[in-house]
Amino acid sequence: MSDDDVAKAQKIAATQLSRAGVRLAYILNDVLAPIPSGAAPGVKTIGNSAAGRVFALATCSACHVVAQDQKAPRDLTTAPDFQAIANSRGMTQVAMRTFLASPHPTMPNLRLSPQQSMDVTAFIVSLKKATR
Ligand code: HEC
Repeated sequence: MSDDDVAKAQKIAATQLSRAGVRLAYILNDVLAPIPSGAAPGVKTIGNSAAGRVFALATCSACHVVAQDQKAPRDLTTAPDFQAIANSRGMTQVAMRTFLASPHPTMPNLRLSPQQSMDVTAFIVSLKKATR
């Protein structure tokens, strides 16, 4: 490698690193966004699960079993059903919102607004209680 190539590579690496920084900042902003006002003090209500259910039926049901009564086909992919996601170990709203804000190898990079992300994760987490 010539000095020229090294200099070029260093420039590219610096650009890529700053892009990664911006991306990480975006994810952190989204994940750590303040809980919308309206929740009673001390109540950890993040997102509206009823709105999340409607959104998920419209947006996620092509691949996931979102609700047992959904009409959408379920055989397109091997996406896990939402109840299974809710019951998987260590699955929290923060973990889920991080997942939804990050690129993913098999799931299209869905662009959810912070509100949609909160609502849909509130809905998925609500399914956890349904099995107990
Ligand atoms: C085009 C198909 C498709 C759509 C649409 C889709 N997903 Fe997925 N999703 C997948 C697949 C496939 C996986 C499994 C990826 C893997 O495990 O590698 C997955 C995984 C996930 C996971 C992670 C599960 C885990 O245990 O790690 C979450 C959470 C999730 N999807 C939520 C959603 C939400 C919310 C929506 C709608 C806003 C959505 N998905 C829309 C295909 C889809």
